[in-house]
Amino acid sequence: MSPDESKWLPYIVMSAIAFVLGVLIIIPIGGADMPVVISMLNSYSGWAAAGIGFSLNNPMLIIAGSLVGSSGAILSYIMCKAMNRSFFNVILGGFGAEPGAVAAGGEQKSVRSGSADDAAFVLGNAESVIIVPGYGLAVARAQHAVKEMAEKLRAKGVNVRYAIHPVAGRMPGHMNVLLAEAEVPYDQVFEMDDINSEFGSTDVALILGANDVVNPLAEQKGSPIYGMPILEAHKARTVIVNKRSMAAGYAGLDNPLFYMDKTMMVFGDAKKVVEDIVKAID
Ligand code: TAP
Repeated sequence: MSPDESKWLPYIVMSAIAFVLGVLIIIPIGGADMPVVISMLNSYSGWAAAGIGFSLNNPMLIIAGSLVGSSGAILSYIMCKAMNRSFFNVILGGFGAEPGAVAAGGEQKSVRSGSADDAAFVLGNAESVIIVPGYGLAVARAQHAVKEMAEKLRAKGVNVRYAIHPVAGRMPGHMNVLLAEAEVPYDQVFEMDDINSEFGSTDVALILGANDVVNPLAEQKGSPIYGMPILEAHKARTVIVNKRSMAAGYAGLDNPLFYMDKTMMVFGDAKKVVEDIVKAID
């Protein structure tokens, strides 16, 4: 090896060690903890840039790196808090799905499905409805249709409220932004801790494109999301779930809520389904 080539050796060895370490640290972490890991890695990249800034004596790199590092760290902290996990638990204790945990694509179970017309009938005859928006609502961009539906129901005397989970969607505050964009009045929007006790006395929980944030597996010991706070939609008298298929959500877990006797699945794109419900509400 020439002296020029040997200069690269420490760099190559260090990169290989970093690669192996990176893979080994991340591989055991369970699906539900992934958002925390992603923002933590963002944070690491910021601190690394700041460190390089010090060695190159480049203030711009130090400032930009510190901003990325600290915002990633703050975001990780907020997400850990929302999911009732300690940061060290995520990094050290998340050893993936426990044996026996229900994973997506397992045994076939039957679900009760209905049409948008059926959903409109149930919603129109309810006294109280709590709408749970999730990532699928954002994908379908159905927020305006949802607001129209809620207004139509309220005009019929139905008490319609929205329940927001802190990690619903793909970024903190995702659902709040979505509903604000549709100009949903703030007094109809409730955070998880304020509305969870209301599900038990609610006629219909209408779940639109949400999955993990209403997954009762979170209450089951041994499940990979055990301990994560959820919106307790399963306690409502009737549950209507809209999604396109039986596919799992972000955490990759099946959802027992979909198989409950009181649950009606309405399959289809959230925007189309909600628009059909709006048309069908008399
Ligand atoms: P998810 O659990 O990801 O479920 C979203 C559901 O929406 C999917 O099951 C999907 O089912 C359905 N969907 C997708 N497109 C749709 C459409 N066009 N119409 C109707 N349904 C549609 O979402 P969630 O309940 O909001 O939970 C959020 C998850 O993301 C959590 O696990 C959270 O940890 C994670 N996460 C959160 C953040 C933050 S900070 N909010 C950041 C990263 C990750 P189909 O495919 O069957 O339609």
